[in-house]
Amino acid sequence: MKKRIEAVNKELDCFSPSNNDEIEQFRISMLGKKGQITALLNDFRDVPPSDKKEIGQLINILKNRTIELIENSKISYKNISPKSESIDLSLQQEFIELGSRHPISLVKNELFTIFQKLGFSLSEGPEIEDDWHVFSALNFPKEHPARDMQDTFFIEKNPDILLRTHTSSVQVRTMETQKLPIRVICPGRVFRNEAISARAHCIFHQVEGLYIDKGVSFADLKQTLLFFSRELFGPDTNIRLRPSFFPFTEPSAEMDVSCKLCGGKGCSVCKHTGWLEILGCGMVDPTVLELNGIDSKVYSGYAFGMGLERIAMLKYGVKDLRLYFENDIRFLNIFKNYL
Ligand code: PHE
Repeated sequence: MKKRIEAVNKELDCFSPSNNDEIEQFRISMLGKKGQITALLNDFRDVPPSDKKEIGQLINILKNRTIELIENSKISYKNISPKSESIDLSLQQEFIELGSRHPISLVKNELFTIFQKLGFSLSEGPEIEDDWHVFSALNFPKEHPARDMQDTFFIEKNPDILLRTHTSSVQVRTMETQKLPIRVICPGRVFRNEAISARAHCIFHQVEGLYIDKGVSFADLKQTLLFFSRELFGPDTNIRLRPSFFPFTEPSAEMDVSCKLCGGKGCSVCKHTGWLEILGCGMVDPTVLELNGIDSKVYSGYAFGMGLERIAMLKYGVKDLRLYFENDIRFLNIFKNYL
């Protein structure tokens, strides 16, 4: 009898239920009709009178211990049960880690917000393109170096199918499909066959803009870019336009913004010039309008294009382009506080 009591006590020592069903099963196995403690109580009749006092006490202790254990298990299980309404303030809080937005997405969203204020809408197009949309419709001469194998990734040696090298291809698609006037910004990934380093990458992101209407002038372009630069980099920002060349714009320019870090005085970021180059722009070449079925005697337009990695670099001080593509959690965590 004593051995049986000891065995049950050992079972109680090991009892650690993880749900209500297990507690109930345990109760039945101990105190149910065929339970071990019920059996001990039944067999108590056959205990010799001399041992009755001692065994009786042991069985009583065992029974009370069992009942207490079952009750306590129910309470502690309740505390961790999600269905429970009672709150255990001593339990440690598990925080859900919030993710962060990628710096390129942050910049892209900011640009959308700025250009939305000026009435621009969003236009997107495919990454795998044809020669017409990336080059020919944009007035690139057949021998232009940008078509060269060194710059362009061609798909399966087919010179007509390629990865777009700029999102100007979306502007062509927009001219094909949308009614005039057109006022769009075109964000997207672009690809160029460059060796990967801290300052160059074979994938990057652009946002290009296109506005075509009657009487659009270079002054409109300049004012739009000034507004955009001040919204993005702050109200004290100045811009300057330097003459440049693109096959699809005439005249063409490159735009610099005054260096935010040194206030235009000159520092290592702006290479002591006080200016930072951020985009290319110009008036849409009349040939491009005609190639896309738009009467260049009635309509005129401007276009601009910029690299998002460069803007993110200036805003967040990211000096190595490769960081944008490596998905290193330590880098991404830096942007947790930006939304
Ligand atoms: N498409 C040009 C580039 O990729 C940028 C640009 C766009 C320049 C529009 C002028 C006008 O470099």
